[in-house]
Amino acid sequence: MSNERNLILAIETSCDETSAAIIENGIHIRSNIVASQIKSHMRFGGVVPEIASRHHVEQITQCIEEALNEAEVGYEELNAIAVTEGPGLVGALLIGVNAAKALAYAHNLPLIPVNHMAGHIYANRLIQPLLFPLLALVVSGGHTELVFMEEDGQYQIIGETRDDAAGEAYDKVGRVLGLTYPGGKRIDEMAHVGTDTFNFPRGMIREENYDFSFSGLKSSFINTVHNAEQKGEELDKNDLAASFQASVVDVLVTKTLKAVEELQVKQLVLAGGVAANRGLRETLTKKMAEVFPNVELVIPPLNLCGDNAAMIGAAAYISYQRSEFATYDLNAQPGLSFDTI
Ligand code: KG4
Ligand code: ZN
Repeated sequence: MSNERNLILAIETSCDETSAAIIENGIHIRSNIVASQIKSHMRFGGVVPEIASRHHVEQITQCIEEALNEAEVGYEELNAIAVTEGPGLVGALLIGVNAAKALAYAHNLPLIPVNHMAGHIYANRLIQPLLFPLLALVVSGGHTELVFMEEDGQYQIIGETRDDAAGEAYDKVGRVLGLTYPGGKRIDEMAHVGTDTFNFPRGMIREENYDFSFSGLKSSFINTVHNAEQKGEELDKNDLAASFQASVVDVLVTKTLKAVEELQVKQLVLAGGVAANRGLRETLTKKMAEVFPNVELVIPPLNLCGDNAAMIGAAAYISYQRSEFATYDLNAQPGLSFDTI
């Protein structure tokens, strides 16, 4: 293994972004090409798996070529190929896994399978060295988890959602407000215009565990909107958004701070698509500075919060250093969790 510049070509196709990146030494982004399919799924109000797979097939070769061109790197300079093996949509994952296997075979390069959620956590390593033990608040469209890491590559889920993921709840109430999919970003914007006047429930906030629940909040939100509709009343959508966001952020931040205290971590990292949420970023920053000024908080820049291949390359570097490679029978694992790593 050379100690100069280790170049990994990383591929991500777990959901609705096709992405390829070149990462140097696990921390330096040489290129990170992301082709979003959101427009194709919008009119269906969610991601349609068959459409996602077809888009990945159409985009993947071009994304990889662009990633290599932008980084000015040829296949002969690469040290490994990394790919998301799960969790995600099986048909979507398979496109990336097969592309990675074909390239690894053709160019005789080691193949590194990456857990998508580990990728979200390691997005933070592209901006700041990780300090252990650390706690990660992982909030995406499919997951909401508090993950404790004693060292690189070791993940312990200490709490997770019992029903909807935070991003999923955002997207569902977005639909009730008539927003296009995915509604998370728009609700965040509306929340900054409105005020928390509805005082929605804060699910499981006082329970002695680190689990989350957003279905009660979602039901309360939907009932409030439907009751008003039946009475012919018009509710302020910005206030609804602000009230919803206040509940989500309150629960996430309260439980995260409790875990920071109990686990005595050196660093807290935010990860996943919902890490782009302005309310969450601001509240977490403020509370951490107030309560735990000695614990470092790392929040990824917006372009590294959503799905991208750079984060997959960052996570893959840990396996690369340990020579943990896959064989050509690597398969997509749609239900992959940290427990199966
Ligand atoms: O991590 P991600 O790109 O895909 C998954 O792995 O699931 O996360 C997508 C989720 C969507 O639910 C989207 O609505 C949400 O992240 N999201 C947001 C914001 N930006 C994206 N949720 C709240 N506020 C935002 N600013
Ligand atoms: Zn994701």
